[in-house]
Amino acid sequence: MQQMDGRFLITGSSGQIGTELTVALVGRYGADRVIATDIVKPNRKDCMTAALDVTDADSVKKLVKEEGVTTIVHLAAILSAKGEKTPDLAFDVNVNGMRNVLNAASAVSGMKLFFPSTIGIFGPDTPKDNVPIETITRPTTMYGMTKLFCEQLGEYHFRKYGLDVRGLRLPGIVSYRTPPGGGTTDYSIEMLRAAAGGGNYTCFLKRETMLPMMYMPDALDAIVKLLEAPSSALVHRTNFNVMAFSFCPSDLENEIRKINPCFSVRYAPDERQAIADTWPRSLDSSAAAREWGFSAKYTLSGMVRDMLMNLAPLTRKE
Ligand code: SER
Repeated sequence: MQQMDGRFLITGSSGQIGTELTVALVGRYGADRVIATDIVKPNRKDCMTAALDVTDADSVKKLVKEEGVTTIVHLAAILSAKGEKTPDLAFDVNVNGMRNVLNAASAVSGMKLFFPSTIGIFGPDTPKDNVPIETITRPTTMYGMTKLFCEQLGEYHFRKYGLDVRGLRLPGIVSYRTPPGGGTTDYSIEMLRAAAGGGNYTCFLKRETMLPMMYMPDALDAIVKLLEAPSSALVHRTNFNVMAFSFCPSDLENEIRKINPCFSVRYAPDERQAIADTWPRSLDSSAAAREWGFSAKYTLSGMVRDMLMNLAPLTRKE
């Protein structure tokens, strides 16, 4: 179906994106070609698993070499809100982890490396709407600073060692299978889970905080498309902007209320508001569309319907 050979190593495979991307890659390339790793050995039976601490350079190098890895999907990272609580850990995992993965990748010829960057690389001086790839990038969070450096370090390996590195700036990702950990856009998932469970919700962002977002199926599709794009088609490397739609907490609340009229949200912004205030409202994804065919299928209302339908049985069990 596709031309990629060799084995895939996924770091951070137990996270929000990793759990679902692993299933997608196993389905697409076969169980024997995927190795799912995380700091704690992942508890899954559909492919090979291993414990891997990305801050341990020797372990990363050893696994890549011994298992014949030809594509690394490097997802292990500390997100924005957790990064503000544990800045040293965020620096270590995000920067040293990326350095170790890049060094292991560049040591193998023909290696491909994918990693997600983020809307967090923008900052308070960045324009707010339809933000282009090249703009003012002066992030103020540890997460944003480290991910911006990852973009640049990735490009350094591309230029200096010819590593086929690819990355995109993900917006907030909404999904139901695995809860996210430590992000600022997590409010959206919390709100949908509360609604599906029949409760109300206290939101940690202000009602009018508009952010770029995307539903998980579109994010998975984007990652696979970028992974499989011919290298020659890529003008950009590590910094493709992508988003599906923008909404603020009250938009999401109203959308949920169309299905569940009794649902209500109280707004009690906490320290995460200051993070969200530094991020743009929308991004220009046209380079991703042009260079590797990015497109998002889900609208806000389609996503909310699908989320509530899928969360209903899950939240009943909780
Ligand atoms: N979802 C991420 C966060 O909120 C943004 O990349 O940290």
